[in-house]
Amino acid sequence: AAPAEFATQVVRWQKSHGRHGLPWQNTRDPYRVWLSEIMLQQTQVSTVLGYFSQFLARFPDVRSLAAASLDEVLALWSGLGYYSRARNLHRCARQVVELHGGEFPRTAELLQTLPGIGRSTAAAIASFCFGERVAILDGNVKRVLTRVLGFGDDLAVAAHERRLWDEATRLLPQRALADAMPRYTQGLMDLGATVCLARNPSCLLCPVSGLCVAQREGVPENYPVKSRK
Ligand code: ADE
Repeated sequence: AAPAEFATQVVRWQKSHGRHGLPWQNTRDPYRVWLSEIMLQQTQVSTVLGYFSQFLARFPDVRSLAAASLDEVLALWSGLGYYSRARNLHRCARQVVELHGGEFPRTAELLQTLPGIGRSTAAAIASFCFGERVAILDGNVKRVLTRVLGFGDDLAVAAHERRLWDEATRLLPQRALADAMPRYTQGLMDLGATVCLARNPSCLLCPVSGLCVAQREGVPENYPVKSRK
């Protein structure tokens, strides 16, 4: 896939067909974006909506969250599951206050040093809030990119996953289009969540089907290749 064409189509598609108006969109407040990304890691959007607004009502900023007790944070998290997320959320808030003066770091590299923020979440926050030209690669995006590229190597092998990260970086919008980064990141997430589905993907609606190796091969569901058990 030609990188420029891929990024251009993803950005254009997001404008007209992506998801808009979710409460953590249309903000560049890293606190809100961070909170939403952590909640969305293992929980679907419809469930996150209510928790997100409750959380913000009680903890409007990172300082109020850092000042709270862990018990109160866990109580508000109750029902979302994966409680290590809540413990890391609380630890992260305290580190932002104690080590960064209450301001989230402004690069993916530094964001990744915080508890609970891995490479993809750091990139999501940095691209949404600061326009950094850096790749995300969560489960949905792995599906989109392995299909577009016809990437048939098992991602359970660390070297293969590293290669996919390199490909994800190569496909980013060109430097001159850096202001497109928030929309590009959101577009990849939206494609994975609404079009490039694990089963029965809607290739007829896909803006990059013309570039997609898996679509040409005829069985997009064959990607990503899973390790044999
Ligand atoms: N899942 C993870 N991040 C998301 C976002 N920004 N919007 C919608 N779904 C998401």
